[in-house]
Amino acid sequence: MAFEDPGSPAAVGAAAAAAGLRAVPVPVDEHGIDLRALAATDARAVVVTPAHQWPSGVALAPERRLALIEWAAERDAIIIEDDYDAEFRYDREPVGSLQGLAPDQVISLGTVSKSLAPALRIGWMICPPDLAEPLTEQKHRSDRGTPTLDQLALARLIESGRFDRHLRRMRATYATRRTALLAALAEHAPELPVTGLAAGFHAVAHLPADANEHNLVAAARTRSVGLYGMSTCRTSRAATPPQLVIGFGNVGERAIREGIAAVRDLLADRP
Ligand SMILES: Cc1ncc(COP(=O)(O)O)c(C=O)c1O
Repeated sequence: MAFEDPGSPAAVGAAAAAAGLRAVPVPVDEHGIDLRALAATDARAVVVTPAHQWPSGVALAPERRLALIEWAAERDAIIIEDDYDAEFRYDREPVGSLQGLAPDQVISLGTVSKSLAPALRIGWMICPPDLAEPLTEQKHRSDRGTPTLDQLALARLIESGRFDRHLRRMRATYATRRTALLAALAEHAPELPVTGLAAGFHAVAHLPADANEHNLVAAARTRSVGLYGMSTCRTSRAATPPQLVIGFGNVGERAIREGIAAVRDLLADRP
């Protein structure tokens, strides 16, 4: 089972191991997963985040979307499309799902973890018809079911239109935090390129080549600023090129400004 690198090596690795599969990392560049590298593996399944790659934030380029589907068709492989934050796009219309392009080849995963709360543990799966029953059985064996009352409450929220209202309100809230992040970076660290901000609640800040990602993260922690280095998302755990994955979903505007000011100070103090 192939997966994106950087990505979620621990989560995908554990899921693959539980299924008796080998997890094979495939590099991601600014256009998404590297399809030549994918083709060079013997994978029969791939886990991708095409709408907003976790954690780089890039969208899978249109020609690669089609090439990925061709790869799956030729190899009789399954694409697992992890559509974890698609409800929140800022700069253009939502990108279409791979599942819609190839319903027999793609399993699409959605979740309310970003739109409502991770604590709810409710998600959904749109899958090829012949996989629906085995997947339902496997899910039932693994957890004996998702709480019915919670699902009914969510259904009510959606049917009543309140879920859509909530999304609209939260989009505006997150857009304000995103603007605050961009403004703080422009003020305090204009030399840092920032990418991945088209959707979701995180961005990648590209640090100067001589910055030490581990030291910066540790020093920020002593100032009560939680930063995450890209190394934690790389299969190799390499801290080069040094990058920060900056989340702004659950942080107020003031904390965003203070956090970025701390990054500025720590970068200025580096040896
Ligand atoms: C890449 C990615 N996939 C999926 C999820 C959602 O997982 P779950 O629905 O199990 O909370 C997240 C949430 O943080 C994520 O970052």
